[in-house]
Amino acid sequence: MKRILIIALAACLVFAMAACNTGGGSTAEPAGGSGGGSAVAEPTGDTIKVGVSMPTKSLQRWNQDGDNMKKELEAAGYEVDLQYAGDNEIPLQVTQLEDMISGGCQVLVIAAIDGSSLGSPLEQAKEAGIPVIAYDRLIMNSDAVSYYATFDNWMVGTYQGQYIVDTLDLDNQEGPFNIELFTGDPGDNNINFFFGGAMEVLQPYIDEGVLVVPSGQTEKAQAATESWSSEKSQARMETLISSQGYSPTGTKLDAVMCSNDSTALGVTNALVGAGYTEADFPIITGQDCDVTNTNNMLKGLQSMSVFKDTRTLAAQVVKMVDAIAKGSEPEINNTSDYDNGTGAIPTYLCEPVVCTADNYVELLIDSGYYVDAGNGEVKAAE
Ligand code: BGC
Repeated sequence: MKRILIIALAACLVFAMAACNTGGGSTAEPAGGSGGGSAVAEPTGDTIKVGVSMPTKSLQRWNQDGDNMKKELEAAGYEVDLQYAGDNEIPLQVTQLEDMISGGCQVLVIAAIDGSSLGSPLEQAKEAGIPVIAYDRLIMNSDAVSYYATFDNWMVGTYQGQYIVDTLDLDNQEGPFNIELFTGDPGDNNINFFFGGAMEVLQPYIDEGVLVVPSGQTEKAQAATESWSSEKSQARMETLISSQGYSPTGTKLDAVMCSNDSTALGVTNALVGAGYTEADFPIITGQDCDVTNTNNMLKGLQSMSVFKDTRTLAAQVVKMVDAIAKGSEPEINNTSDYDNGTGAIPTYLCEPVVCTADNYVELLIDSGYYVDAGNGEVKAAE
């Protein structure tokens, strides 16, 4: 049903474009114009305007996502309204989306700060017939969401868990090995996949007693880190260090499962502060291959990250926007796993890849994602 609606909306969008192209400056109905649509400004040119809403400027990946989306959409002939919601400010994201709708955007691409907090602009988008693509994070409990594009987030979690299992050789060792668990913002639906995937791999070893979580903090809510904040993960790790007595000479800490790089960074900072060095550093997992974390991997202060090439995701979303605009079906490779509470959202999953100090050159440098800074570090490509 949702797909039929989207195709109908797309047809309206194509019709609107055609009307603009031939109408000598006359205005066209916004995509799927619902008749009333008073909140929606009519497009004034013949170029389709796409609203791209990103959650924060303060984490490297979203700046890359935003830049890539803008560059690729513009190259494909779209006009782009790119907005960052400050530093994860939900009311700002709501206002920015409302402005995009009233400013004539005909497709919205949204990386939600909190997957359940965009009620009002989503209702407006739906009423105005504006297709919504959830970007990276699924938007929950809204039937305004047309498509979802992300990485295989469950796979990200299983890669992190499996890395710990393999590195500690848990299938052949009796242990017990001590581990602590860190995941991300409770409002980000992705943590259900990251944490769920990692725990699917780790739980059997915890059940057998080969892995032990000395703090007892094994629930997702206990492992969560508000806003994915490095300061908050650092503070929690510092508390765990003092409550459990972790140190290179005290209680042994073998691994910290971190769902992403910003949480890993805080954990690494706390461990360095507690006297750990590359010679005795616990296994730390991450995700995103942020510059700082990649350099920490090269220094032995983080073990792995999961590389999610933001260029691939942006390119896929541009293809989705293009298909919608042309009235065809976007490429989808998952129709069952990403239910947002209103039904499974047609999804395209990109593939994440494990990155370590052993393969970063091939993944990050040879692909042009980063450049070699010449001092044993990487830096952002110009
Ligand atoms: C993304 C991760 C990112 C995290 C924090 C998640 O939704 O999938 O790549 O590290 O948000 O921004």
